[in-house]
Amino acid sequence: MSEEEELYEPTIQNIIDSDLKWIFIGGKGGVGKTSTSCSIAIQLSKVKESVLLISTDPAHNLSDAFGQKFTKNPTLVEGFKNLFCMEIDPTPDQLAPEFIESQGDGFNLQEFTSAIPGIDEAMSFAEVMKLVKSLEFSVVVFDTAPTGHTLRLLSIPSLLDKGLNKFLSMQNNFSGILSAVSGMMGGNVPTAEGIESKLQTTKKTIEEINVQFKNPDLTTFIPVCIPEFLSVYETERLIQQLTKLDIDVRDIIVNQIVYPENDCNLCSARQKMQKKYLDQIEELYYDFHVTKLPLLKAEIRGVPSLKLFSELLVKPYDPSHPLVLPNQEK
Ligand SMILES: Nc1ncnc2c1ncn2[C@@H]1O[C@H](COP(=O)(O)OP(=O)(O)OP(=O)(O)O)[C@@H](O)[C@H]1O
Ligand SMILES: [Mg+2]
Ligand SMILES: [Zn+2]
Repeated sequence: MSEEEELYEPTIQNIIDSDLKWIFIGGKGGVGKTSTSCSIAIQLSKVKESVLLISTDPAHNLSDAFGQKFTKNPTLVEGFKNLFCMEIDPTPDQLAPEFIESQGDGFNLQEFTSAIPGIDEAMSFAEVMKLVKSLEFSVVVFDTAPTGHTLRLLSIPSLLDKGLNKFLSMQNNFSGILSAVSGMMGGNVPTAEGIESKLQTTKKTIEEINVQFKNPDLTTFIPVCIPEFLSVYETERLIQQLTKLDIDVRDIIVNQIVYPENDCNLCSARQKMQKKYLDQIEELYYDFHVTKLPLLKAEIRGVPSLKLFSELLVKPYDPSHPLVLPNQEK
């Protein structure tokens, strides 16, 4: 093995061995983000004290993958002692009811959110992050929604930072009116000071998160792709955008690689097509850890299947010993 190959091993062992706090998994629809997130979380749970897997995809699939119902609160995954899942919806009314309630009856969310575009999503994300931070998991894995949505989510910290500054400076102009109204109504209307102090707290959380997401010792993003034109193209675009956002990428997972059996024509043709993109990936990402995963004969559902699949993340796949899933038809 050459020195270079040793440096960039074709597994995610580097992630397992790290002290990362936030690991994002992303990519095009259907490439295997959820299967990979679950598998990474399973491998991490072997060596970390506690692991939280969060789905930020409104079309949640963690429940489907594990065959267990999850909610917006961390729930222990059956068959594990330290692996928890939660599914969040980045919409304000579902995510931040405490925040909205704490503003009192006079608080008009719609008015507030129309003042700063994107603030609703941002506030929701801030509330989730505040909760997640307070729970002190060793590491948090995010199973994200397809690319566009995820990039927006990741740009939230800077977006919210700007928005809040604007809002807080606006606030000065009508704080007098607000407190006068509040006095007239016996203090039932939220005071400008009340809103402002709440926003200041949120701003502090967001600033902390912003710093952490940009720190490669704490945060990394793992793109998942399949060896096909559209997916490889989108991965490159994703990596460029993440670089612009100062978010680290050091691993790439290539999923659904076809290994033909018994001279099958279809599989051989697909293998040939995939080889072209696998070569491109190798060339383009020579300084990344590129982990290759095989296309299996069955879906990867349920804890036993996910556990088996997850082993392939740390032990390169050997096509001469095909992996047989427990739920696979013989
Ligand atoms: N290597 C593989 N071999 C066989 N089946 C796979 C493989 N990877 C994923 N699958 C199956 O393909 C389907 C899609 O995978 P998965 O849900 O992980 O993708 P996703 O990127 O999260 O999709 P979405 O964009 O819809 O969230 C699932 O049924 C999963 O079990
Ligand atoms: Mg998914
Ligand atoms: Zn075939």
